[in-house]
Amino acid sequence: MFQRLHQPLCYIVIGVSCLFSALSDASTQYLSADAYIDVENGVRVENPLVTIEAGQITKVSTDSQPPPNANVIKLSGYTLLPGLMDMHVHLTGNADDHGYKSLAISLPRATINGVNNARKTVMAGFTTVRNVGADGYADVALKDAIDAGDIVGPRLFVAGHSIGVTGGHCDNNLLPSDYAATGGGVADGPWAVRAKVRENIKYGANVTKICATGGVLSKGTKVGVQQLTLAEMQAIVEESHMRGLTVAAHAHGTEGIYNAIKAGVDSVEHVSFLNDESIELAKQNGTVFSMDIYVTEYILGEGEKAGILEESLAKERTVGKRQRENFRKAVEAGVKMVFGTDAGVYPHGDNAMQFARMVQFGMTPMQAIQAATINAAALLNQSETLGSISAGKHADIIAVKGDPLSDISLLESVGFVMQSGKILKHSDSPDQ
Ligand code: ARG
Repeated sequence: MFQRLHQPLCYIVIGVSCLFSALSDASTQYLSADAYIDVENGVRVENPLVTIEAGQITKVSTDSQPPPNANVIKLSGYTLLPGLMDMHVHLTGNADDHGYKSLAISLPRATINGVNNARKTVMAGFTTVRNVGADGYADVALKDAIDAGDIVGPRLFVAGHSIGVTGGHCDNNLLPSDYAATGGGVADGPWAVRAKVRENIKYGANVTKICATGGVLSKGTKVGVQQLTLAEMQAIVEESHMRGLTVAAHAHGTEGIYNAIKAGVDSVEHVSFLNDESIELAKQNGTVFSMDIYVTEYILGEGEKAGILEESLAKERTVGKRQRENFRKAVEAGVKMVFGTDAGVYPHGDNAMQFARMVQFGMTPMQAIQAATINAAALLNQSETLGSISAGKHADIIAVKGDPLSDISLLESVGFVMQSGKILKHSDSPDQ
């Protein structure tokens, strides 16, 4: 321990306070880079020096020098950003196991896939993700293992079972009735769906995911048609909010989107067949949109090989196009947006591919970065501790070579990842 005490005075005055200050100095880290993205003010700031103590950012200054002999990580040529946050992933799902292929994946195998995918996700710069639906509470197990430091992965917000109606998008409709295959979150009626929220909470969920409409990848569902009734969604929202959980609603169809917003959900996912009324209501209520506009390229390009059913491919051919048009409309109208990809439908670790599409369809690079940082933190009610590089927040910091504001695709190659002050990836470091 004594070699960690840099201050010579400590050898002479082994007073308690001196010992403490010496120890904290030894554990203080400094991070310097060409610039950092200040997502709170929407600007790129040059020559930052970030001070990190006990996993937290304690100071962000510019043009200042670290103390002599300090532990400084110099990232020259790099821009620092807050750790990225993806609000719509399925860590236990793999991109090549769609349709009937998914039936061959056991729950333990899916959980093991999740361990692998959690690592890929954090190494791609996503230090926090919201997992919106998993069988058998595998997402809760992943969260617990990550929190305990047993495996490496993003900070997780987890939904447990996605809640939806019999035969709906959140059910398993692949097999005939002989097999009695039913999704864990399937329920019908306001009290029954409310009970599902309680069950999810009992087993460790800290967000709620519902299926308001049909979907693309579910067999036999009409993508544009509402499934949960308004009364069912209101019951879910009331119960979730009372227990301190936010609600994410899968909704493609026009009425389903509108009624989910009306019921008071916190975010609407996909939002494909959006109309002006829903844009207005979302703005009034502060409802956030999470629009996965990259995944269509994977589904239409690789989906058939991956087992996606022809009926799903047919649905995707209209959904993807409409969703991108409506993404532009929502951005122009000023709806609050977060970054959500549906990774798991396409390969984990490729989450950042969506940034370039968000810019192509109407966002500035800064808006796209804010969607994946400060806006996501606000949606999760974590603005105090996540979402920006500023004093008092967790030291979840990533870095890319160059300036992501002039080339947003740089976020596809993250060279440095720090989570809670711990370096998980440092491409320029000789021992990585
Ligand atoms: N999980 C979603 C569903 O099955 C994926 C939708 C993907 N398509 C899209 N254009 N975002 O409905």
